[in-house]
Amino acid sequence: MLVHIEQVLNSEEVAGCLAQLAAQDWVDGRVTAGEQSARVKHNLQVSQEAPAARELGDMILGRLGKTPAFVSAALPLRVYPPLFNRYDEGMAFGEHVDNAIRFAGPVRFRTDLSATLFLTEPSDYDGGELIVEDTFGEHAVKLAAGDMILYPASSLHRVASITRGSRWAAFFWVQSMVRDDGQRSLLYDLDNTIQSLSVPVGQADAAAVRLTATYNNLLRMWAEV
Ligand code: NI
Repeated sequence: MLVHIEQVLNSEEVAGCLAQLAAQDWVDGRVTAGEQSARVKHNLQVSQEAPAARELGDMILGRLGKTPAFVSAALPLRVYPPLFNRYDEGMAFGEHVDNAIRFAGPVRFRTDLSATLFLTEPSDYDGGELIVEDTFGEHAVKLAAGDMILYPASSLHRVASITRGSRWAAFFWVQSMVRDDGQRSLLYDLDNTIQSLSVPVGQADAAAVRLTATYNNLLRMWAEV
């Protein structure tokens, strides 16, 4: 499933990120690409080791922890430290898949979900859609600055060529407690149903409590922690 998470960062936080990123050295994005995707990758990234990137990444991780829709949709076990990229006019990233395993220092991650947090308003550039393929076909994603898309890391995807302006974003991967996308989707739907029930009937309603028990029992069955 593709999940749009709104307002992970507010406009002040986005502006702060952009100002700090503007002062960084940008390197060829192929530094973090596998051999196959390096052939179709044409963008710029901030070095993973840059102190500002670590600091902004930590700020984003902090905000994600306080974003219930992210926690509910991703059921995160580990979140890879966010990276930052930009696509200027003429840049693109052709069709590829993300590596199944990534290393952050000595820590190994299984990439269950890929995430893109948009930092540029859509009106500031043309092209640059993130295009994700699933069994329903292709989905073109271009979100407001501060919004994020979560999609299965197993999906074929690409970033369309930029024809005007520049598109800046944070991107990272999540190892979920629930590896299977179908199981994770079901839990997300169930959680949303419980939340929507809780408003009119109250948290203590017997049916809401039973559904919550079902949710917890499924999570117990499926979660690797
Ligand atoms: Ni990718």
